[in-house]
Formats: sequence, C-alpha cells, structure tokens
Amino acid sequence: MPDFQTLLYDVDAEGVAIVTLHRPDALNALSRRLVAELSGAFREARRDDAVRGVVLTGAGDKAFAAGADISEFAEMDPLGAHRFAMNGQGVFNAIEAMPKPVVAAVNGFALGGGCELAMACHLRVASETAQFGQPEVNLGLIAGYGGTQRLPRLVGLGLATEMLLTGDRVSAQRAYETGLVNRVVPQNEVVTAARELVLKIASKAPVAVALTLQALRASDQPLAQGLAVEAALFAQCTSTEDFVEGVGAFLNRSKPEFVGR
Ligand code: COA
Repeated sequence: MPDFQTLLYDVDAEGVAIVTLHRPDALNALSRRLVAELSGAFREARRDDAVRGVVLTGAGDKAFAAGADISEFAEMDPLGAHRFAMNGQGVFNAIEAMPKPVVAAVNGFALGGGCELAMACHLRVASETAQFGQPEVNLGLIAGYGGTQRLPRLVGLGLATEMLLTGDRVSAQRAYETGLVNRVVPQNEVVTAARELVLKIASKAPVAVALTLQALRASDQPLAQGLAVEAALFAQCTSTEDFVEGVGAFLNRSKPEFVGR
C-alpha cells in the first residue's frame, strides 16, 4: 500500500475504496503532490481485486477541492504549464478509464480542477451545500484538466460556455437540474449515498459494468464508430460466465450469483 500524505485511502468491509482528498487547510487544493498521489490511489484501487468500486470525496465539510493549488502557479511558463495540464489530464483520464465504478461525493466547493476531477468520475453525488464552477478566467487562465471538454459533454454547450466565461458558480440544485450531478443529498449523507451507488453497481455483472464504461467512453466518437465499439463489446459479454449465469437466472426466476468472469 503506497504511503499517502495528501489523501486518505481506506477500503471498507464491502470492498468500497474511500479516497479522501486531504489538504483541509487549503480546501483540498490539488497540489502536484496530491495529483501524483491520486494517480497512485487509483492505480491501487484498480489493481486490488478486493476493491469493487471507489468513492472520491474531500476532507472537511467546506470543499471537495477548490481547484489546482494556485500557490504553485507563480513560476509557471508555457512549457511547464503544458506539462502540468498533460499530467493532470492523464491522471483524470485514468480515473475515467477505471473498469470499476467511481462516484464523486462532492461535499462542498468543486471549483476549477475540483470540478474537473468530479467530472472525470463516472457519477456525482452532491451535498446540498456543494457549488460547482470553473473560475480560471479570474486568474487569466483557462481550464486545463478537461473542463472545456467534459463540461459541455455533461451540461451542453450553453451552460458550459457561461460557466467557463463568467467563472460563476452553480448550486448543487442547478447542477442536478442540468445533468452535472446525479443526486443531491444532505451534507452528512453524501459519502453514504455515493457508497450505496457504488455498491448497487458492484452488485451487477462486473465485466458488463466494465464494458459498459468502455462503450460509454466511445460515445464522443462519430455514431458509426461508437456503434461498432458497442457491438464488439456486446459480443464480448457472451463469452463470460456471468452472461450464462445472468440469463440462466432470469429464465429460472432465481437471483444471479455473479463471479466477475
Ligand atoms: N489553491 C491554493 N490555496 C487555496 C485554494 C487554491 N485553489 N483555494 C483556497 N485555498 C486556501 C486559501 O488560500 C486559504 O488559505 P489560508 O488560510 O492559508 O489563507 C484557505 O484555502 C481557505 O480559503 P479562503 O479563500 O480563505 O476561504 P473562503 O471561504 O473565503 O473562500 C473559495 C473559498 C473557494 C471561494 C476561495 O478559496 C477561492 O476562490 N479559491 C480559489 C478557487 C479557484 O480559483 N480555483 C481554480 C484554480 S485554477
């Protein structure tokens, strides 16, 4: 198990890895170190067969993450900034590419890189107090960890353009109404609700879950290409034991016992 300084990593009895961004004095701002540790945490969650899914949340009750660590920006030049963006995008892409469900439990501010991190997760549960925003324009910057690409895919070009150009924050309720988050719950229930969502998905056939996530990632390709990916993955499912089990259980009116093969 890697030794983390800026996040907490815990696997509970039911196989849910709870990853907690843990820089409460800086509203869990995503320092370089934190991004590197995030990469390590998700690598570990992917590798460990005991982990069935991940909940990602922030320490404290004020912030999920208030963005990249602005104190690390002062010395940045174009080459360093390009590396910075590519590195963060790579880590977030690896989160999105996880074959197990990843649910963000957004417990407060999700700004800049914090909003982008939540969007790289497969699903988002927000507390009633959560706020989402891409305030980079206030710093003379643009979003660099995927905000200009994932935000319009989730909420449409209209609201994404408004958020990215004004830097204005949206409430949890507006985020829910516009498809940015999947559930809004009271603050003290946000991790529990995210965990329940992970466990619900983890109770389905794990290979089918992984292949669904893979097919969804092809949904930004031209339709014909995306459909070809879907057909190939649909075919792949039929070679699993869980397909035989699932169809057999339906026909026998019994509950399927999935084994993840
Ligand atoms: N990077 C580094 N430090 C940050 C930070 C960030 N993105 N966001 C907050 N912090 C630090 C503050 O500097 C402060 O540290 P201090 O106590 O040592 O002074 C601490 O976290 C608390 O933040 P503070 O601004 O005092 O809290 P607030 O309740 O008044 O405001 C926010 C909360 C989220 C509105 C405000 O912190 C903010 O606008 N943060 C930056 C958001 C941003 O622009 N993100 C995009 C970065 S690209």
